[in-house]
Amino acid sequence: MTAAVLSARPGAPLSGTVQVPGDKSISHRALILGAMASGRTTITGLLEGEDVLATARAMQAFGATVTRTGEGAWTVEGKGGFSEPSDIIDCGNAGTGVRLIMGAMAGYPVTATFTGDGSLRKRPMGRVLEPLGKMGATWLSRDGGRLPLTLRGGTLAALDYTLPMASAQVKSAVLLAGLHADGPVTVVEPEATRDHTERMLRAFGATVTVSDHNDRRVITLQPGAKLSGSPVAVPGDPSSAAFPIVAALITPGSQVTVTGVMLNPLRTGLFDTLREMGADLTITNRRDASGEEVGDITARHSTLHGVVVPPGRAPSMIDEYPILAIAAAFATGDTVMRGVGEMRVKESDRIALMSAGLEACGVDVEEEPEGFIVHGTGAPPRGGGLVETHGDHRIAMSHLILGLAAREAVRVDEPGMIATSFPTFADMMRGLGADITEA
Ligand code: S3P
Repeated sequence: MTAAVLSARPGAPLSGTVQVPGDKSISHRALILGAMASGRTTITGLLEGEDVLATARAMQAFGATVTRTGEGAWTVEGKGGFSEPSDIIDCGNAGTGVRLIMGAMAGYPVTATFTGDGSLRKRPMGRVLEPLGKMGATWLSRDGGRLPLTLRGGTLAALDYTLPMASAQVKSAVLLAGLHADGPVTVVEPEATRDHTERMLRAFGATVTVSDHNDRRVITLQPGAKLSGSPVAVPGDPSSAAFPIVAALITPGSQVTVTGVMLNPLRTGLFDTLREMGADLTITNRRDASGEEVGDITARHSTLHGVVVPPGRAPSMIDEYPILAIAAAFATGDTVMRGVGEMRVKESDRIALMSAGLEACGVDVEEEPEGFIVHGTGAPPRGGGLVETHGDHRIAMSHLILGLAAREAVRVDEPGMIATSFPTFADMMRGLGADITEA
């Protein structure tokens, strides 16, 4: 049974070398492209978290044969297309899963009904349905584009689409649908977002070109490629590595190394920001893993100071603002995080929950419509709160890290949701010396 509450207590310095699970974004994409392709895709290092397991089940439901062959080792036998599922597709907590799968299925003549957990059913799907509708897909949905919804795919038209928001999920849905369009599909990004779909589409045999026009990234996919199953080695997730790294930075006497972390520059905004705050981070052993750069990151306890995070950096660290806010609570002075309105439509309203959680732990926070400011004093915050996570894994992990270096223990509710992205989180942190227990 999953604990109702987890508690993190201040204690000894953290030390050791760890590996974090595979990248969530790449794990979803490997399963989906493997199912769309013909032949066998072999995946190593797949994140075996609840979100990705839901995508694996969905690909099976659309006709692929998905098999676990060992720890993190999976094969997908793709049939070169999707067949109609016989039951509802439940994507659990995973926005990436459902949005990318809807894009992938839109190009096939099949109908499917999608749902998810209470959090996913609240999140906006219209951002994906709108471009898919322009291409010719049709849907029926509850409440103006929320799950559950039924999507009917088929023959799609070419599209030239400017994203209304910086979203790799929307970009990816359009590109995956575009594989079956009757002409090229172009996506224009207001700001560059993670490019794993583009990279993996190329590796599976599609033609994708990227250019810059007036400071905007323009991605064009040529339709009609026959995708072939390919090997994918999933690198360590920088969004998960962020937790032990920040834990080491704020806990006196600590030194922690995380090996094999993906260093794609569209994902590493947090590490740049932490360095600007004075963090002692070193990256060694840079190497290539399946077309992505990886490296080993060592973090040592550091004296941090507040910074203004450039809003343009948001897409490269959008999931890392919760843990950045924890680092900011230990820094001297203000850390200003603006241009992050997208945080309000993640697994929870992360601006509201980080502000409430930090306040409950004695940190002074100013909430704005599209951002928040953490007023750090340079001293460890009081801690002592019971933090409501609303079932958001990153809200839970971030506040547990706070508890490791606050003056009093921090407790979080619904810690079972951590398994959506980082099932080994508590054990891995305990291995580094963290005092995390069921409360
Ligand atoms: C993701 C894109 C981001 C991110 C999410 C994963 C992806 O979402 O927050 O965790 O894998 O494409 P948006 O596209 O909504 O910004």
